[in-house]
Amino acid sequence: MRNLLPAAALLPLIALGARALAAEASAVPPPGPGLDLINQRCAFCHNTAQIFSQHKSAPAWAATVSQMANRGAEVSPEEEKVIVDYLAKNYGAPDQPATSAPSQK
Ligand code: HEC
Repeated sequence: MRNLLPAAALLPLIALGARALAAEASAVPPPGPGLDLINQRCAFCHNTAQIFSQHKSAPAWAATVSQMANRGAEVSPEEEKVIVDYLAKNYGAPDQPATSAPSQK
């Protein structure tokens, strides 16, 4: 009975953590040509969850993808662009204003 109070105080914290985990696991990547390419080209060395857990600006995604190409990811320059567009759109960095990214055209 004496231990009941501390345990009760911790319960909301545990519930909160579990909910955060569930939200992460159920976040399904939106469909698109970029997703198809990522599943084909990027799931080779690591889980795509490693990709979709990140949030980066467009230039940062471009740097990551070309880094992966250097490591052995088989992506053509066109495919690289599709993948970067997809990731920047769906897994962008919300804290960075879009205007800070240099325009592509
Ligand atoms: C030839 C193997 C290989 C392929 C193919 C590959 N990666 Fe990776 N990737 C790695 C390795 C090794 C690491 C872990 C080392 C690190 O974090 O620098 C990694 C880490 C990552 C990370 C986490 C680290 C970071 O910089 O954010 C992301 C995101 C990522 N890869 C994205 C991709 C994408 C997108 C593709 C497809 C274009 C891809 N990877 C294809 C080898 C690969």
